[in-house]
Amino acid sequence: MNKNIVILGTQWGDEGKGKIVDYLTEDAAYVVRCQGGHNAGHTLVVNGEKIILHLIPSGLLHDNTIGVIANGVVVSPLELIKEIKKLEKRGIFVRKRLLISSSATLVLKYHIEMDIAREKRLGINAIGTTGRGIGPAYEDKIARRGLRIKDLKDEKKLSTRLEKIVDYYNHQLVSFYKCNSINYKIILKDLLPIIDLIQDMIQDTTHILHKAIQNNKKIVFEGAQGSFLDIDHGTYPYVTSSNTTIGGIISGTGVGPRCLNRILGVTKAYSTRVGNGPFPTELFDNIDEHFSTKGHEFGSTTGRKRRTGWLDTVSLCRAVKINSLSSLCITKLDVLDGLNEIKICISYKNTNTSEIISYPDTVYDWENIEPIYEILPGWKKKTLGIKKLEDLPYEAQNYIKRIETITKIPIDIISTGPERSNIILVRNLF
Ligand code: GDP
Ligand code: IMO
Ligand code: MG
Repeated sequence: MNKNIVILGTQWGDEGKGKIVDYLTEDAAYVVRCQGGHNAGHTLVVNGEKIILHLIPSGLLHDNTIGVIANGVVVSPLELIKEIKKLEKRGIFVRKRLLISSSATLVLKYHIEMDIAREKRLGINAIGTTGRGIGPAYEDKIARRGLRIKDLKDEKKLSTRLEKIVDYYNHQLVSFYKCNSINYKIILKDLLPIIDLIQDMIQDTTHILHKAIQNNKKIVFEGAQGSFLDIDHGTYPYVTSSNTTIGGIISGTGVGPRCLNRILGVTKAYSTRVGNGPFPTELFDNIDEHFSTKGHEFGSTTGRKRRTGWLDTVSLCRAVKINSLSSLCITKLDVLDGLNEIKICISYKNTNTSEIISYPDTVYDWENIEPIYEILPGWKKKTLGIKKLEDLPYEAQNYIKRIETITKIPIDIISTGPERSNIILVRNLF
């Protein structure tokens, strides 16, 4: 029997990971965020009520589950407290069930200012970040100057280090980016009341997770973003600053690969991307309009319109390999309802040489890509809320089977609507 499951996005984020994490955590003792920060926006819809989580693990709506924000996450203490309080207003109490790694890196005001200033300076070449300071926070971590959650415990040392680091950033913000300077005393003043609130949550989460594994507890590891936003494997430089693929789960928690039982890749039945960067199957026609409207494709974090396109199985097969995926979950199948035909991208052609290419290497190679499509018949019947595979229209079953054949891994879950209950469980994962 499987004791833990990793859930990863296989596209450019927003695949519906939050909903699947929430669904699978019903049977789990722990749910763990491993990388990324409050750039993530994970949506849950339970009994018609919509909740968007950014830092808090998506399984925490289940009363008996413990949430872990592990060492690989970059944490904004201000945003964390805001999110905790927002949930409390809705009657969801998580403080006693939430643990934060003492080694997680902090996201502070100067990271956000730097993120915004850099994007502004890049102009039309901007990455299209969420403006949450994620890139600069990971830079600090790698540069070995980052402040960590454990640094909140000693006010005097914190103050000294903050003064130094703010001075470092003020040189850049004021001289280079022509922005206002930041006062470290204001950052400290805002942090102090929060430290008291999160003090008890700060733990060695790696130790806690290993104890849970020893005690045969079920664990869901929640990936954020998607495989092609990965700093190494994504469409660099149009990526986020963490490893969003399987490696990020391992380094981001301290749980080794032999402890991971199943790796589930979540993919939309079509594609979306928010922010700039390569997107071979992107659409600009009435199908984009269909996906946008029917799929409500607007960012959960920034509200930006998501770019949309057909399913890209060249990228999906790459995601299967780089993540060692055991199986897939297809979400938003219902959004395809009513289309006459459905296209699947099965290979990329180089527009200059007409050659079929395996996978583009650099951001320049992505510019000359044309998707080659296979066309499948659509279906008119509604799939929204269907709970059994055999109740899906024949053409929808055919679409699912085709994806399994191309990717060579099984589809274990199909999501047929935003609600927690709109799900087809083909195979039990735990
Ligand atoms: P995440 O970042 O991967 O958790 O995904 P987001 O929450 O950012 O975006 C997914 C969106 O699709 C949310 O609005 C979900 O409520 C919605 N959603 C998830 N699964 C389904 C589904 O099967 N059908 C439909 N129509 N919507 C879904
Ligand atoms: P979830 O977990 C979709 C994108 C941004 C931008 C790029 C870099 O909800 O799937 P960043 O702020 O991380 O430096 O932005 O990454 N991005 C996401 N896109 N879903 C996300 O998270 C994302 N997190 C970051 O739009 O293109
Ligand atoms: Mg999202």
